[in-house]
Amino acid sequence: MTQLDSPDLLYTVPSTPRPKLLIVDDEEDIRTQMKWALAQDYQVLLAEDRRSALELLGREQPTVVTLDLGLPPRPADVEEGFATLEEMLSTDPFSKVIIITGRGEREHALKGVGAGAYDFLYKPVQIDELKVVLKRAFYVSSLERENHLLQKQIGAEGFQGMLGASPQMQEVFSIVRKVATTEAPVLILGESGTGKELVAQAIHRLSERKEEAFIVINCGAIPETLLESELFGHEKGAFTGAYIQRKGRIETAQGGTLFLDEIGELSLGLQVKLLRYLQEQVIERIGGREEIRVDARVIAATNRDLKQAMKTGAFREDLYFRLAVVSIPMPLLRDREGDLFMLAKAFLHRYAEDSKRKITGFNNQAIRAIESYSWPGNVRELENRIKRAVIMAEGTKITPGDLELGAHHTRDEYMNLKEAREALEKEMILKALAKNKDNVTRAAETLGISRPTLYELMEKLGIERK
Ligand SMILES: Nc1ncnc2c1ncn2[C@@H]1O[C@H](COP(=O)(O)OP(=O)(O)OP(=O)(O)O)[C@@H](O)[C@H]1O
Ligand SMILES: [Mg+2]
Repeated sequence: MTQLDSPDLLYTVPSTPRPKLLIVDDEEDIRTQMKWALAQDYQVLLAEDRRSALELLGREQPTVVTLDLGLPPRPADVEEGFATLEEMLSTDPFSKVIIITGRGEREHALKGVGAGAYDFLYKPVQIDELKVVLKRAFYVSSLERENHLLQKQIGAEGFQGMLGASPQMQEVFSIVRKVATTEAPVLILGESGTGKELVAQAIHRLSERKEEAFIVINCGAIPETLLESELFGHEKGAFTGAYIQRKGRIETAQGGTLFLDEIGELSLGLQVKLLRYLQEQVIERIGGREEIRVDARVIAATNRDLKQAMKTGAFREDLYFRLAVVSIPMPLLRDREGDLFMLAKAFLHRYAEDSKRKITGFNNQAIRAIESYSWPGNVRELENRIKRAVIMAEGTKITPGDLELGAHHTRDEYMNLKEAREALEKEMILKALAKNKDNVTRAAETLGISRPTLYELMEKLGIERK
């Protein structure tokens, strides 16, 4: 008899725990009905107001929440519902909240999704419809958690903080993993801010040399006269000012990895000297007569087109082939499918935590602005803009202004029609008021509308009367 045939064992095999669902609704009948309909598939938790909902969220960590926007003390209003939503998402950004709102309250539904809700349903809730939405929400959540775990594992392996779910970055990670354990020189090619230095560090950390030094030298940042001594070192008295003997960076990378950044800036003279090292693994300090054997793995990077530089004679072909045994092209941020928002959220999370600011996300315009911008400075630019935005933000959501993604771009490219109309209305009203020295009657005349209409618009657009 196999183990599973034993009747005892069949009884004791634990069933997998049902996933947790939190239902927030102030009407007891509805809570009971929903629980009755869903208890077979989920472990259902019930809450009748904001306080109990947040308490259960913190204690039980349900994966999915359904949230009726009309909660006490004013169930006819949606204020309390939105406040609950916001607090929930800042407590657990991974939770999937499905908003339940009155039919014909499309505005509220959309606002909720803009604020981070997963989906919405209209009242009265159709149970079969709810079941489909719930199933999908639990599925999406499990995928996200899996992906998160995966990222953590990758991080633990050596990619520390380098994120990327796009096929383009998965390809980069795969080359890095393969090449890391070899001794082959690597050339990393890519525009500014695409993560070249992070890749070089990852290769080092995943290699057998990880306990040894990782030495960086930026060939573009040091004047040529100094660069030679930086790279190769010098003996005492080798030139005026050389009072002591000094080791170069190549020598300090002994046993470890040497990262030559901006290799495209290296002069032809130094290219020859570097080539000699790559061919023979020996260097001579300036003014020295002794050959020093150095075992360092070389990784180089550039944002220059080296093929073009070879054509014009600015870069030596033999050096290129020595360096580019393996080359890794870095994709542009805008070409990485799906990475943009993942990175934006990760940076927001990181910097909000660092600065202890309660910033929970991006507003709708900011999301559109991020989407439409071309990101010429790639990941570095995204990181810097978000770092700044976290400091500048006045509310809990980042705006395009905080990101310095210009307001004039915003109107044409990132707004929907209603937002664009409101922005234009506001601009014209402010101009008319300024021109008429805050005289509302005359401003209304200038705009060709009645005075009450102007007041109404000012109220709607949040323009203060002076
Ligand atoms: N995939 C990524 N995940 C997370 N952060 C990243 C990623 N790629 C780059 N960064 C961050 O972006 C910034 C720029 O990265 P890095 O210095 O590696 O780029 P680079 O290609 O060397 O840029 P440059 O050409 O300007 O020197 C760093 O702060 C880095 O941490
Ligand atoms: Mg760099």
